[in-house]
Amino acid sequence: MTRMVISVSGKGGAGKSTVAALLLKLLDEKGGRTVLAVDADPASNLADMLGFQVEKTVAKVAEELRRDIERGAIPPGVSKKDILEFKVYSALKEAKNFDLLVMGRGEGEGCYCYVNSVLTGILDTLTKNYDVTLMDMEAGLEHVSRRTDRDVDYMLIVVDPSKMSFETAKRIKEVAEEVHVEFKHMVLVGNRFSLEDEDYLRKRAESLGMEYGGLIPEDINVHRFNLEGRPLLELPDDSPAVIAAKKLLEYMGLL
Ligand SMILES: Nc1ncnc2c1ncn2[C@@H]1O[C@H](COP(=O)(O)OP(=O)(O)OP(=O)(O)O)[C@@H](O)[C@H]1O
Ligand SMILES: [Mg+2]
Repeated sequence: MTRMVISVSGKGGAGKSTVAALLLKLLDEKGGRTVLAVDADPASNLADMLGFQVEKTVAKVAEELRRDIERGAIPPGVSKKDILEFKVYSALKEAKNFDLLVMGRGEGEGCYCYVNSVLTGILDTLTKNYDVTLMDMEAGLEHVSRRTDRDVDYMLIVVDPSKMSFETAKRIKEVAEEVHVEFKHMVLVGNRFSLEDEDYLRKRAESLGMEYGGLIPEDINVHRFNLEGRPLLELPDDSPAVIAAKKLLEYMGLL
């Protein structure tokens, strides 16, 4: 298959990580494709929802390298890119049928410019090794204005039943246009809507100039799993949110 990059965005708390986790659960069970999940939210909780303990984040290993460079601890003739590449690969967490990379938050002060530009190259290469890359983005618009998500095939914009989340959806589209980032598909996904809202959401998507990808209902299992800290990968297959996520995967031609 051709490579596909999916990005999940939207207002804070709209359900981005939940939607990402549901899609990953289905991709993991289906198998047959190489999948990279990227937790690109500095407040990372996708890993948590999936039940992974994460010790190493990309931000941490980049910080390690930056310190080593400053201390002069890199022997001459050793490529910094190779070192960072090795470190990034060692930060990958493996599930049955997908790998997870947690970006994390940079903590140190000082200039990351060099390390960041090397890192961008490494991540671009890494992504190319997978059939599907699924990114759980930070809330809001900054990732769009920083052009973090160029080359996205499916930009899923998650909205919950709030006016604000539609406003965020609209802004994401506007900012993308302002900074000339083009997503092949901009797809509105309703979360915590009722099945009767289907027509309503379809119309809202249309008036936003977006495709409509479907809706995920409020799901008591998602709720409980979250409360109890159980991994969403273990949600029962007949759970309403899982059934709905299947349709979304189907919409993107991945089922
Ligand atoms: N369909 C659903 N049914 C029940 N609970 C849900 C559903 N979707 C999301 N939730 C709950 O709502 C909360 C917020 O969801 P989630 O963390 O996925 O949002 P988010 O957009 O990723 O938030 P953030 O902006 O903080 O990253 C979580 O506690 C989650 O369990
Ligand atoms: Mg989240």
